[in-house]
Amino acid sequence: MSGPQCIAIDGPAGSGKSTVGEQLARQLGYLYVDTGAMYRAVAWLALHEDVDINDGPALGELVQRADIVINHPHVEDGRQYTVLVNGRDVTWDIREADVTRSVSAVSSHPEVRKVLIAQQQEMARQGKVVMVGRDIGAVVLPDAELKIYLTASLAERARRRHAELVERAGGNEKNVSSVEELTSDIERRDAIDHDNMQPAIDAIVIETDYLTVPQVLSTIAPYVEDTV
Ligand code: DC
Repeated sequence: MSGPQCIAIDGPAGSGKSTVGEQLARQLGYLYVDTGAMYRAVAWLALHEDVDINDGPALGELVQRADIVINHPHVEDGRQYTVLVNGRDVTWDIREADVTRSVSAVSSHPEVRKVLIAQQQEMARQGKVVMVGRDIGAVVLPDAELKIYLTASLAERARRRHAELVERAGGNEKNVSSVEELTSDIERRDAIDHDNMQPAIDAIVIETDYLTVPQVLSTIAPYVEDTV
């Protein structure tokens, strides 16, 4: 079985696309590309270099001269991959609240999207890939043989994000935003991300509220086998 060349997984924040995408890529021996990390890297750089997150042309220039690299060295700290911006490891910085707050605005500029989409398309030309994001099946890789769209209710997505943050904080809930705060954060991001969220019409939609990650993977498996 040769399997699909490209698998596109799209969905909103907290739909489980990163966890599912990474595990699917590992099972299949494909490259895993989380495009959200690329938008986050640009948002981090804009904050770091004091570039106005509402200034599309300035951000376009910033992203063109930025060197954003995602690679997979073995580091035992829970990371899925390493993100380097101009040689600096920002893997954890891009998950901070200030970046999360700014990334929707940064990613709304066509000047930014144009550059990152071209880079993502180039990555997919390097080999078999599971690419995760918001517009992968519709815009970045419209020819992907398999397109998945993962969804979950707002309440479930906030609950998952909370559990993830608590786990990252070593089980300590104290310094972690409450589920209520995360719900309004996600709701606000959903509203801004809305225009960039482009489910492909030919995507397989999986509602994940009542599914575990292994169950989502088992749901996807027959589609992978079918796309030969
Ligand atoms: O999946 P995430 O939360 O890490 O994504 C970060 C932001 O990047 C989110 O606000 C939406 C945006 N994004 C996008 O516009 N297009 C993509 N392909 C991936 C992410």
